[in-house]
Amino acid sequence: MAVNRLWIRQGTVVTGEGLLAADVFVRDATITAVLRRDGPGAGASSPELDDFQGAETIDATGLWILPGGVDAHVHFGMPVRPGVRSLGWRESSTCALLGGTTTVVDFANPERGESLRAAVERWRRAAQADCLCDYGLHVTVPDARPERLAELPGLVADGCATFKAFLAYKGRLMLAPTELATLAAAVRDAGGRLLVHAEDGEAIAQAEAQHIHTGRTGPEWFPASRPPTTEVRAVETVLEIAARTRCPMTLVHLSVAQSVDRVRMFRQGRDAPAGLVAAETCLHHVFRSATLYRSGRDDALRAICSPPLRSPADGVALMAGLADGTLDQLASDHCEFPLAVKRHEGLHGFPMVPNGTGGVGERLIVAYTLGVKKGGLSPAHWVRVCCERPAELAGLGHRKGRVEAGRDADLVLFDPAAEGTRLPIGPGDPLARLWSGTDWRGAVRQVLRRGVAVVRPGVRWTEPEQGEFLPRRYVG
Ligand code: URP
Ligand code: ZN
Ligand code: ZN
Repeated sequence: MAVNRLWIRQGTVVTGEGLLAADVFVRDATITAVLRRDGPGAGASSPELDDFQGAETIDATGLWILPGGVDAHVHFGMPVRPGVRSLGWRESSTCALLGGTTTVVDFANPERGESLRAAVERWRRAAQADCLCDYGLHVTVPDARPERLAELPGLVADGCATFKAFLAYKGRLMLAPTELATLAAAVRDAGGRLLVHAEDGEAIAQAEAQHIHTGRTGPEWFPASRPPTTEVRAVETVLEIAARTRCPMTLVHLSVAQSVDRVRMFRQGRDAPAGLVAAETCLHHVFRSATLYRSGRDDALRAICSPPLRSPADGVALMAGLADGTLDQLASDHCEFPLAVKRHEGLHGFPMVPNGTGGVGERLIVAYTLGVKKGGLSPAHWVRVCCERPAELAGLGHRKGRVEAGRDADLVLFDPAAEGTRLPIGPGDPLARLWSGTDWRGAVRQVLRRGVAVVRPGVRWTEPEQGEFLPRRYVG
């Protein structure tokens, strides 16, 4: 097979530590060297400089070379009920690649009576047929019965080393705290990590019933059924269980300032070995707010996702949490439903509206514009929370998330000076997205997925072969 050599010249590599002037060398699907042009190690002789004479080159003058984005929390093609399913694998993964995200981790959700393994196999078949970026699968665990727990070691051995449990969604997925503790001990023993959806499902069910009873079922009432206290209480429960069981956990989609405070305090305490509890927030929680629920029915429907959007002050606290490392990763929780579907289901009241919103394609640009250009994030923070930490926490740090020799050649050439970038990105229903308009900064100029160009100058999109399933070992 012909060896493909690519020399990316004169660019600036962005890592989780900062910017470096460096050339990047790619052979087939792998980065073989990153050679600095100034600073420590610059000018050192390297076999690459001879080997790559005559290789294909890209002039990256003025561009940043980023690792392909890693979005460790998405739901592609997720069935909710007959006839209602989130935007599919092909469309969603196209959005991801167009927006510079080359790796996602989705969730295999077992149906009633289905084993975890059967759910993983079913989800893998769907992804294998249609997913264009690389992907892994977390496994949703809907109860803590012994036969479920017995499956965990085998799944970890097969590369599904991260599990998700819910304290929300009463009657479907919700675990009681005692069940969560039992599951946490089993995940720890299996060598995995447990992701937790921390919202108090009991309190939410009561609030929902009260809203239905009093006829307050328009989408504008959705956030009142899930107030901030329902998240903060559940976060406290999770932290207590993490301390007691010593199970590595990730609190996903945190949305409230007090939740960030609780994690920060926990990490300073005696009960918290380094790395025990990681935390995630999502694009919409940082950069959109609950005012959308009050600005008309369609805006409210678009913004129905769990947890709900919160106050602008919460957004500021989440951004501070990303900047100081309390929040490890910024995900999209991409789970997009056409606005027409939300409108239709919403006729029966907000509890019937499928929860979720899009953003896998917009994540890098939105976080660059509102985080790096207009907020308190440095380029290094941006790459750390969008690429590096999500890869590490998902057990993919050896392949993804950094521009470094030996890693997959998932690379984004990003123009930091571009203005007027248009959102939304990629297929799907533009009306469903929270991100629109042309006032965005930065632009994804080229995307390589394992060395293959899917976006390049003058060619907006070249559909690649299917993505790869990524077996993941959780390494702490
Ligand atoms: O509203 C959301 N987040 N939908 C997806 C499911 C989940 O809980 O993450
Ligand atoms: Zn969730
Ligand atoms: Zn989710």
